[in-house]
Amino acid sequence: MEYVTHDSRICCIDGNGNEVGTILFPKREGNVYEITSTKVDPSMQGKGIAAGLMRHCLNEISRRRGTVQATCSYAQNYLAKHGLRPLVICHMVTSIDGRVTGKFLSGSAGVQASEAYYDYHRAMQGDAFACGRVTMESSFTGGFKPDLSEFAGADLPHEDYIARKHGYYAVSFDRHGSVGWQDGILHDEDPGYDDCHIIEVLSEDTPAEMLAYYRKIGVSYLFAGREDIEIKTALQKLYALFGIRVLLLEGGSIINGAFLRAGCVDKISQVIAPVIADQNDKPLFSDAGMTEFRMTSCETTEQGAVRIWYEA
Ligand SMILES: NC(=O)c1ccc[n+]([C@@H]2O[C@H](COP(=O)([O-])OP(=O)(O)OC[C@H]3O[C@@H](n4cnc5c(N)ncnc54)[C@H](OP(=O)(O)O)[C@@H]3O)[C@@H](O)[C@H]2O)c1
Repeated sequence: MEYVTHDSRICCIDGNGNEVGTILFPKREGNVYEITSTKVDPSMQGKGIAAGLMRHCLNEISRRRGTVQATCSYAQNYLAKHGLRPLVICHMVTSIDGRVTGKFLSGSAGVQASEAYYDYHRAMQGDAFACGRVTMESSFTGGFKPDLSEFAGADLPHEDYIARKHGYYAVSFDRHGSVGWQDGILHDEDPGYDDCHIIEVLSEDTPAEMLAYYRKIGVSYLFAGREDIEIKTALQKLYALFGIRVLLLEGGSIINGAFLRAGCVDKISQVIAPVIADQNDKPLFSDAGMTEFRMTSCETTEQGAVRIWYEA
């Protein structure tokens, strides 16, 4: 199935080129999009087409930074069940054989592809980028561990904490509150990562001392599970509490796999370096089952890499 987006309509086209479903979402005042109708050809009902139309429609409204209003009953029921979450674009640089770690990244082909990757990151202008705990520590904090002695005996409830609202966010998926940030704002030489407000996504397994530390340095945090992080819950909170509409998921392998298994990877932006990696390097999605995507565009970059867009 292919989903084709027009101004206020998305159509589902089957393998024979027939239109088998349509969703209408006219724009109203104040950048509000009203979902007025979801229709699927009777012969094609029960194949997930209406849900596919809804997902594409919500992603498109997120991409336009619009507000969703639903007046058709199918859309109302879908929203009651699934809620609203950001459009998730998994943006990664890989080897030819789909690896994302290891020494291929520091060879000349990897470095050049990484330059293209950072250019694309800036051009996509997400509202936030997100990484797993390991990547946040290796790329941004250097594994710093704060002295928590002044917070001994802290007693804080498991309530979401918004230190500030900001135009751009770095979202850290960190089950146990381990990442040692030193400030609520991330400073980086690359303007694509500079001046982000940090949001820690935690489980309730996080020590109260760390919550007190995050509050002191101005890091926001939210809870998305008891011991593990439920990706959908986290995304719904990022949408509702911080207004994040477009999230760039930027690795590593483990957190990408968790998003994929939760059905929360909408698009993939893959920048491929012309190199085969070592066999022990990690894949784009760890612990992934077979999941079909559709390639929507492909281009070669000035740096000699290939950039491919896929969508779910
Ligand atoms: N090629 C690229 O574009 C690219 C991009 C980014 C990173 N990387 C590379 O990727 C490597 C790191 O990747 P990685 O796969 O080892 O780690 P990762 O995905 O960065 O982080 C994984 C960690 O995230 C935490 N986590 C939070 N919520 C989770 C959930 N629901 N399910 C699973 N884990 C969750 C877990 O740590 P806790 O249990 O402590 O919470 C887990 O160990 C680095 O070498 C980095 O350089 C490459």
